[in-house]
Order: sequence, then structure tokens, then C-alpha cells
Amino acid sequence: MAPVQLRTPRLAIDGGLPVRRPDAGWPVWPQPADGADAALLSVLASGRWAISSPGRGELAERRFAARFAQYTGARHCVPTDHGSSALVIALESLGLRSGALVLVPALTWTASATAVLRAGLVPVLVDVDPWTGCITPDTLDLNVGAQAVIAVHWACSMADVPALSRVAAARGMSVIEDAAQAHGARWQGRSAGTLGRLGCFSMQHGKVLTSGEGGAVVTDDDDLAPVLQELRADSRRYGTDRRPGALELVEDPSTMGSNFCMSEFSAALLCAQLDALERQNAVRTANYTRLAELLSGIPGVRLLRRRPEQDRLSLYEVPIVLDPLPEGRDNTWAARALGAELRTHVYTPRTPLSRSALLRPWTKPTIAPLAERFVALHRDRSYPGAEYLARHAVVLHHSAFLGPGTDMDDIAEAVAKVMADSGRHADRLRHGVEMKVN
Ligand SMILES: Cc1ncc(COP(=O)(O)O)c(C=O)c1O
Repeated sequence: MAPVQLRTPRLAIDGGLPVRRPDAGWPVWPQPADGADAALLSVLASGRWAISSPGRGELAERRFAARFAQYTGARHCVPTDHGSSALVIALESLGLRSGALVLVPALTWTASATAVLRAGLVPVLVDVDPWTGCITPDTLDLNVGAQAVIAVHWACSMADVPALSRVAAARGMSVIEDAAQAHGARWQGRSAGTLGRLGCFSMQHGKVLTSGEGGAVVTDDDDLAPVLQELRADSRRYGTDRRPGALELVEDPSTMGSNFCMSEFSAALLCAQLDALERQNAVRTANYTRLAELLSGIPGVRLLRRRPEQDRLSLYEVPIVLDPLPEGRDNTWAARALGAELRTHVYTPRTPLSRSALLRPWTKPTIAPLAERFVALHRDRSYPGAEYLARHAVVLHHSAFLGPGTDMDDIAEAVAKVMADSGRHADRLRHGVEMKVN
């Protein structure tokens, strides 16, 4: 591939001409799949808008559960209203005692940790590998006495769940995969979500498979599956009575649940969106491959490292790591500069949970004992890997990868332009210092 050519050196944030043409636009997200409107209208007319409605034809929720189980290759799928609820019931299904400790990566969306607290447990933050953004056996704290691990597949990179599971199993810990950002990713042919004991997905608006809000747990564990059903439907599980008017859910509980049920509209929409997922993942992957080649010629930038065992990508977000950071500039500046060049939103990764304003359990009096334990456990911990990525990466949403390959040329040109300007900026800084010294 030819090296990236710069058309104009002056940055758009400094009043220069942006790389992206004003009429070019970017793919919108979400994109309704073929058949999405018909699927929604059919629920509207069906008289069955919820899992708890009296029987009248097939429940979309059960259809989606079967289809998503088949898609991931899991034996069971239990849909939920959100990805966070999927995590809550997955954790509850383990039957841990109140206040048990759960290892959670410091670099993830807050729900990976708040779900632990909602399940009556205490998250213990652990660092991530700065090359992949995911936890590894080396970053786990094996001495704190945790009983479970949440392995998040971060942005577009998969955690090595088989390796984590080996280490965890030796200490009696269960691994829950948080695959909220990884629908369709595969590790040695196996789908994200099916490598740990339980796998949790989010179908929130920004995700690659979405119904606005939604979630699911997948598992191969025949004993956990009915427990998960109860935990998400106020202690009820699927029954067998298919007569018109009969209820889908029966009251024969073994445990107490909450209402985390997915609505029929969401389930029907997800069935339609699932039909488009593989094609969209293929487009995103082809574009990512092209971008990787283009960026390889630009010094000081890299993409996340992908483990060779990960044989299929799913891009939720694409972090571009500035390594080293341009002198005198930070990644907030770089994200703004790139956004101006590309006429789209470019952002920085989330603040690590260790200093995130979104993870402050002590603000909730109902979980005070868990919060006190959380605070005490986090006094002397550090997260250099998470901090490194939070300060060095700029991030693009997966929708930017759904257009033609030429969009990647624009992204690479914008990156090259911003890096070239940073080089000149560093020279000016050095020159300024020399002037002062003289
Ligand atoms: C890694 C991760 N875990 C959990 C969640 C929570 O999912 P939801 O927003 O559907 O509750 C998200 C959503 O952003 C996520 O990215």
C-alpha cells in the first residue's frame, strides 16, 4: 500500500482545511437491518408485547434466545433488558456469599464493576495489559481471595479467557466473560461469551448488535440456565404449556429473582439485526485491516495488539495508541485534532475505574458495608496499564468502519497530519526552550 500523502499541513483545529470533505459524511448508527420495521410491526399487531403476556403464537424473546445461542454456539441463552442485568444475574447464579470478592479490569465501562455491587459482592480492580487493553493471568491479583473474575473483551481485543480460566480454576474462581463489546469475535473458532462459565452481552444503542437497550447471558451449564431464567423473571422460568392464553412463565422457583426481562419489541428487532451482524462485522474487519496497513507506515501510532488465537474480530471501538505521546500534547488534544480533521467524534478511552466518578459506591447508603470494603481494598493499588491506555489512546466508534475502504485513507491521512504537526510542535517547543536558555 502506498504511503499516506498529506494534502495540506495546517490542522483543521488551527483553521486549516480538514482532511474529510464536508459532503462525505460517515455511516450512521444504528442501522436498521432489512426486515427490522416488519419485525417491530408484527409485535405491535401480535397482542404480545412482553414475556409475561398470555400465550398467542411464538414469543420473540424465545426466538431470539434460540437464535443467539445458535449464533454463539452456546447451549443456552437468557435474554435480559440490559447488559448490566446480564452481569448481575450471571454473578447471582454463582451462589456466592454476600461480600465475596470479584476481580474486575480497571479499564472498562463502569457496569462491569457496578453489577458486582448490585449482586451484593465487592469488585477488586486489577490492571490490564497495555498492549491489548485486557486482563491477563499476570495482572490478576491471586492473593486477595477473590471467588470470581470478570474478563472484559475490550474495544476490539479479546482477553485470553482459556488462560485466565486455568489460573482461576486452580483457585476455585469462576470466570464470567463480559462480551458486551465483542459480539461475533472468536478465539480459536469459539465465540466470545462461550469461553468462560458464563458470557454476558449488551445490546445497548452503541453496540454492534443493538435494540437500543438489551442484554443476554449465554452458558453451556445446564444447571445454571434455569436459575438464570428465574433470576431475570421475578423467580419464574419457561413452562411447557403452549395452549392459547397460557402463561409462558411458570412459578416454581428455586431462588428469588428480579424483573430484568427483555421486551418483545427488543427481541424481534434483535432477530432482524442479528441477520445483518456477520455482514457488518466483515465490512468493519476489512476496513480495520486496511487501516492497520496504512497506519503501519506512520511512526508513533499503533493499534491494539491482537493475540494470534483471536481468529475473528468484532470492532466495538478502535483505539489508536499514540506511542510515545507527542511532546507537549495529550490524547485529549489529539482526539480533538483528529475529530476536526475527520468531521466526526473522536474521543479518549474511559477514565480507569480506580478514579472514575461513575464508580463511587459510598454514595449509596444501601450498600455501605460493600462500599467500605471496596474503599479499604483499593488504598494501595495502581493500574499502570489502564492509565497508559487512558492517556495514550484516541478512539473511533465502529460505525466509522462501516463505509467504503477509502474512509480508512481519510483516517490514516488525518492521523499522519496530526502526528506531523505534533513533530513540528515538539521542534518549536525545543527551539523555545533553547531560546530561553540562551
Ligand atoms: C464492557 C461493558 N460491560 C457492560 C456494559 C453494560 O451494558 P448495558 O449498558 O447494556 O447495561 C457495557 C455497556 O456499555 C460494556 O461496554
